[in-house]
Amino acid sequence: MNPIRLGVNIDHVATLRNARGGSFPDPIEAAKIAKESGADGITAHLREDRRHIHDDDIYRLVNEIDLPLNFEMAATKEMLDIASIYKPHAACIVPEKRQEITTEGGLDVVGQSDRLRRIYDELASIGSRVSLFIEADEAQITAAAELGVPVIEIHAGAYANSENSPAELEKIKTGIKLATKMGLECHVGHGLNYRNVEKVAELREVAELNIGHFLIAEALFSGLGNSIKRMRSLIDNVRV
Ligand code: PXP
Repeated sequence: MNPIRLGVNIDHVATLRNARGGSFPDPIEAAKIAKESGADGITAHLREDRRHIHDDDIYRLVNEIDLPLNFEMAATKEMLDIASIYKPHAACIVPEKRQEITTEGGLDVVGQSDRLRRIYDELASIGSRVSLFIEADEAQITAAAELGVPVIEIHAGAYANSENSPAELEKIKTGIKLATKMGLECHVGHGLNYRNVEKVAELREVAELNIGHFLIAEALFSGLGNSIKRMRSLIDNVRV
């Protein structure tokens, strides 16, 4: 078998926690369950506005979870300083705009290659494996290869939003073939779910998938029944 790694993104456990400002649900507990359930790594995005993952979550992920951390970060000095403290196994550089709901498109490597090269060099010097989150676009893939990063992650959002359009899948395929030829390891992420993941996982060159929002959302439906049953039994048992 040609193995494929699964990185579980736990950002939205933190989104739910932050909705009440307390300590649960705890994203680190989610990371433990991810490990027990077959995840190969944990992905977390420390956003500039800290809307989901907080600095302390990164500290705990590094210190309490025995799985490689894929630290998603914007190309900023602040994030570089944080990465230098925690030295994550992998660092995935993503574009970040404060107003966006999620990471809406890929990084512009062509337009900011000098700046990305400096950030890449620093991340490589602390031992993190660097990837760039980009669209399946020839110019962006070529620019990533020229920069010398070992990995790219292809943004699957257009494919996911198109409800599995064969044309969008074809773009991912073409991008992955080109990137592989250029010596880049290929990951894919964003918007993957039960309906669209198999077509991507079938692509033999894909080494890793990073999946978050759907898994956390789906956990509500596969787990909600159990949590209601447990509450039912707790309140009933004191009424005997
Ligand atoms: N990979 C990267 C680089 C991301 O930024 C994200 C989150 O936007 C994901 C994977 C996971 O995407 P999703 O939460 O849609 O599964």
